[in-house]
Parts: sequence; structure tokens; C-alpha cells
Amino acid sequence: MKFLQFSVLPFLMVILSVSGANLARHPHRDFLRCLSLRIENSSTITYTHNNPSYPSVLNASIQNTRFSTPTTPKPYAIITPRKTSHVQSTIFCSKNHGFQLRIRSGGHDVEGVSYVSQVPFVVLDLVNFRDVKVDTKNEVAWVQSGATTGELYYGIASKTQTLGFPAGICHTIGIGGHLSGGGFGILGRKYGLAADHIIDAKMVDANGRVLHRKSMGEDLFWAIRGGGGNTFGVVLAWKIRLVPVPTVVTVFTVNKNLEQNATKIFHRWQHIAHKLPKDLFTTVWVMKVNSSQVGKKTVQASFKGLFLGRIDELIPLIQYAFPELGLARENCTQMSWVQSVLYFGALPIEPVEILLNRSALPRLSLKAKTDYIREPMSEAGFEGFMNMFLEEGTDFAITMMEAFGGKMDEIRENEIPFPHRSGILFESVYIVQWINEEDAGLCINWMRRLYNYMSSYASKSLREAYYNYKDLDLGINNVNGYTSYEQASVWGLKYFKNNFKRLVRVKTMIDPTNFFSNEQSIPPLLSP
Ligand code: FDA
Repeated sequence: MKFLQFSVLPFLMVILSVSGANLARHPHRDFLRCLSLRIENSSTITYTHNNPSYPSVLNASIQNTRFSTPTTPKPYAIITPRKTSHVQSTIFCSKNHGFQLRIRSGGHDVEGVSYVSQVPFVVLDLVNFRDVKVDTKNEVAWVQSGATTGELYYGIASKTQTLGFPAGICHTIGIGGHLSGGGFGILGRKYGLAADHIIDAKMVDANGRVLHRKSMGEDLFWAIRGGGGNTFGVVLAWKIRLVPVPTVVTVFTVNKNLEQNATKIFHRWQHIAHKLPKDLFTTVWVMKVNSSQVGKKTVQASFKGLFLGRIDELIPLIQYAFPELGLARENCTQMSWVQSVLYFGALPIEPVEILLNRSALPRLSLKAKTDYIREPMSEAGFEGFMNMFLEEGTDFAITMMEAFGGKMDEIRENEIPFPHRSGILFESVYIVQWINEEDAGLCINWMRRLYNYMSSYASKSLREAYYNYKDLDLGINNVNGYTSYEQASVWGLKYFKNNFKRLVRVKTMIDPTNFFSNEQSIPPLLSP
């Protein structure tokens, strides 16, 4: 009887019967009615345009402001469930009233697909699913999808100094999307990806069934660990294996610009970084900076590293393996693992509570692309690449070259859907950002030219890409209707290589009607 609390319901029913209208003619109203019938006080977790909180709820986790303009398509409603049954009801009502469902955890999707769609849609926002339960005795944790990596890192560090988790650098990324696509960060060379450490999950499928590892079966459990979000179901929580970290780690930064031999050192780095001991992760961040000559710009390669040990061990190691870097003691700082996360996030390392601040990072408009480099680039190649940062549109451009090798080399390509493993020298993440909307064209064009330039150096037979930095330039599913395997393969093989076929098989099994879909979700083989 509690459902009849929805006061306008009887009124609506009279109108419907008098006018002879059917449900399909009022999908918006009927969707809300459906929710109200299934969820007690559904209005407290449902935000539509009429609700004054709608804009703030929608914008709360949009990291890429490119998708929060007045012309960006907006969801009919945002539902912020508090219970599993709310998620089941939202799936049921979206399905029955013709709304596409977009799932959002941390809102960091670089193409905005967790909160933008070209067809009528609603957003299921997991902002209230944020529990982090750390079990230090068994070295595991259950983390809900709406938590951020920062909340997870903080949850671990507040219980122990000797365990950590190998996930992404930025602390505001949502666990839901991040683990769904892989998750590479500063512990990647030592331990692999976040998704390599998932040991169980709780998911709701398109039929509203609640599944765990045992009930979902190993094929589906394989697929959700990197095969992409918004494809197989709503993952509510993940059980993860934690990894040992020393109580003291060392971080360093050495900046070199074009006038300081940056190109030569960069060229040398690619031959060394993937072969270094697993305890040492290095990355090179390339960006435009002010030159020492007033009014001039130069390009800086910022060599950064995390060593799972102390300075005294690190310095001789680098001096032996990579003397060209000229690493000195003053470039290095010892700290805890959790502080090193903040260091790489370019944030102050104290207080670590900043990890709990979901809006600590500036939000800009951005476009990203990725590459995997398997063959060393020529020095001229690096020079050309660096020089492109002197062009227009690059004021807020950055490329992060992240060394692979180590554990990444040891994990089989088909262990989980993320296939970019053995033989990769480094992953290259290109990001261009802008503040003024009128710069969008200039910046995106520059990014496309940079990507074009890198085609001579990127993985050759198949140009691999990282699903967690979606790039819709690679191809998209049809907005309405069936997308063939061949069509989706254009982007699918780049992200998943031979694992794409298995992902399509799993999708066909779990969601044959393609209820969970977005521009680059895995399509089922046959769609009605
Ligand atoms: P969001 O909520 O936008 O979801 C992303 C995708 O997953 C969407 O398709 C969404 O529908 C789906 N999804 C979300 N929650 C789901 C759930 N519970 N169940 C099923 N599907 C779900 N990557 C990396 O590997 N290392 C890094 O260091 C970084 N750093 C980084 C920094 C910044 C500033 C950005 C913007 C991005 C990164 N990334 C990254 C990429 C990041 O891992 C990727 O964008 C993740 O998908 C973000 O997850 P969110 O939950 O925040 O995104």
C-alpha cells in the first residue's frame, strides 16, 4: 500500500483511461510512475528538470566540462539509488518505458558517455554506493563502485601502512568505471592493473538479477574485469586483493627542457624504463612551459618516478641504469605510499584527507587519445613530437608516457580483457585541455594531428588503444539499432585485440537485447 503514497497516481490513471492514452505515449511520466510504484519515496532519489537540485546533481562529478554545455543532451532523470532494489527498479522502469540507462560512478569518462546520450536516457548515479571495507588480516577489501580511488586509498592507508592497491593516479576517478576498463597507475609495473586484482563482484544484470562471481560464472566474471562499463550490467561492488607496499617509498622528479637535452634523455629513457626492476616505475610528462628567455616558450619533459624503497637504494640504481638522467638526492623525497599518490596527482602530500575530496581537481574541457609503443622511437621522432607542443592550442596539453614491462609483461594477453601486455615499452596518454569553448576546434585538431604524427611509431599491425581513455574518433556503435561485429571491430580490436570476440560472446549471452549500451559498449551478436 505504501506505493499509493504517490498522490497524483489516481489522478493520472483517470486521465489515462479517459483519454485512452497508452503508456508508451507518456514515457517520461510513466517512467516516474513506475519508479514510484516500485520504490518507496522514490522522489527522494530521483532528480528531473523540475527539481532545483538537478543541475548540481548532474554536474557534481562531470570531470570533462566539454560535456556540460547548454547544448549537451541531458538525462530525463538522474536516479541516485541507496539500495540494490533501487538499482533493480531503475533497470526495470528504464527498460519498460524506453529509456536508455547510463551508469555513472565517478563521472570521469573522457567522452562523457556516463551522462550523455543521443537518445532519451536516464542516469543511474552510484554516488551513494561508496562504502570501502578493508580487511587487513586477509589483505582484501570490498569497495563499492561509487567510491573514488582516493576514498579507497585513504581507506586502506587509515588501517595499514603496509598494504596498497595498484590503481590510477588521479584520486577522483570512480571505482566503477576505472575497474571496468583496467586501471593503470604507479604500482602497475610491480603488480599490474587494478582489474588484475578483482576477486569477486556484485552486479545487477539487465533482468534485475543480483550476481556474484559464483552465480555469474567465469566468462562474465572475466568480461567485467576490463571489458568496459555499461555493457554487462551495473557493478555495485568489487572485492579486491590488496598488495604489499613498504612503509617508506621514494618519489622523484627531474625536469629537462628542449635546451637541456630533453629529447636525447627521453630517447634514452624508452630503452631503459621497461627493463628497470619492478620496484621502480617511471613516467615522462611532456608539456609546454615558459623558457628561461623572457616571453619565450619551450617544451619540458618531466621525468617522474616511484621507487618502492629508500633513496639510498634508488640513487645508485639510477646512476647505473640511467646515468643520463642525472638524478640527484635533492630530486628525491621519501614518503608513505599513500602520500606518493598525492605527489603524482600534483597535490600537496599533507593532509592525506584531500583524497576524500571528490572535487579537488580543476575541471576543464578535454580530448584524450592513447597509444602503445612497442618499438623504440627515433631521436628525430621524439624531437618532432616535442616540437608539436610549441604549436597553437597546446597551452594545457600534456602527454604522459608510462613505462610498462615488469608485471605487465608477465600477465597473459587474455587473462582479463585488457590485452596490452608483453613487449610494450610504454603507454602514451595524450590529453589536450582548454578553458574557452571557442578553442575546442583548435585543440582537438591539434590532438588529431599529434595522433597522426605518432602513427609511425605506435604499435604497427594494429594500433592499440586503452579503453579507459575512450576515443570516439576510433568509431562508434549505431545510435539506434543493430551494430554488426564487423563495425564494432574497428574500435573493439584496438581496445581489446583478440579478447574482443570473447567479449561479444559474453555480451550476447548476458544481454542479448543490448539494454546496456553506449557509443563504445560491446554489441551482442544478434540484436532484435
Ligand atoms: P564514469 O562514471 O564516467 O564511467 C565510465 C564508464 O564506465 C561509463 O561507460 C560508465 O557508464 C561505466 N560505468 C561506471 N560505473 C559503472 C558501474 N558501476 N557498472 C558498470 N559500468 C559502469 N585511467 C587509468 O587507468 N589511470 C589513470 O591514472 C587515470 N587517470 C585519469 C585522470 C583523469 C583526470 C581522468 C578524466 C581519467 C583518468 N583515467 C585514468 C581514466 C579513467 O580510468 C576512466 O575514465 C574511468 O572509466 C573513469 O571511471 P569513473 O567511474 O570515474 O567514470
